[in-house]
Amino acid sequence: MSVINALQQRNSHSKLIQPGPDAAQLEAIVRAGLRAPDHGRLRPWHFVAVQGDRREALGELFAKALKLRNPTATDAELAKAQAAPLRAPLIVAGLVKPVEHPKVPRVEQVAAVACALHGMSLAAESQGFGAMWRTGWYAQDAIVIDGLGGVPGDEVIGFLYLGSRKGDAKPLMEPELDTYLTLY
Ligand SMILES: Cc1cc2nc3c(=O)[nH]c(=O)nc-3n(C[C@H](O)[C@H](O)[C@H](O)COP(=O)(O)O)c2cc1C
Repeated sequence: MSVINALQQRNSHSKLIQPGPDAAQLEAIVRAGLRAPDHGRLRPWHFVAVQGDRREALGELFAKALKLRNPTATDAELAKAQAAPLRAPLIVAGLVKPVEHPKVPRVEQVAAVACALHGMSLAAESQGFGAMWRTGWYAQDAIVIDGLGGVPGDEVIGFLYLGSRKGDAKPLMEPELDTYLTLY
């Protein structure tokens, strides 16, 4: 598939099953992400790959964070948080690790991480996998960030869920170009 087709036909797929990317495919995905544009080459990012039974550990982290955030969370809510990472064989969490810089504000560093995650989702699709970018409150939660190896000030810009597609792809929406593009 050409790059232009890959870009124009990318879509998210929420039902993701085994097999997920193997070690070589994951490496290709991450290397694609690391080529993201990045003002000042600050590399203001870190990526954490979670697979196999480590997804259960991530679920425990989500449930722990929920319990601290909401001590009255029901068993059903805790079970949902615990099971969230089981929705795909592989999750790549992309954290922004902001760097103080006179010319590169945080928003640009967040943009670099977002570009990296988008590149990773395209790299996964180009290898035959589906991808779904998720966030939710977990992404900004201090317990979750700490559990992923982050420090205060870091933030998860996306949890990229990756795996084999189950079911048909969603129909692509055809954006009305005139709505989003003006020729100045
Ligand atoms: C920063 C960011 C956060 C997102 N968080 C979620 C999320 O938590 N849950 C979700 O269902 N979709 C989330 N999405 C959107 C989906 O990944 C997806 O883009 C959306 O469902 C539209 O589908 P499409 O990508 O196939 O057009 C997020 C997207 C971005 C860019």
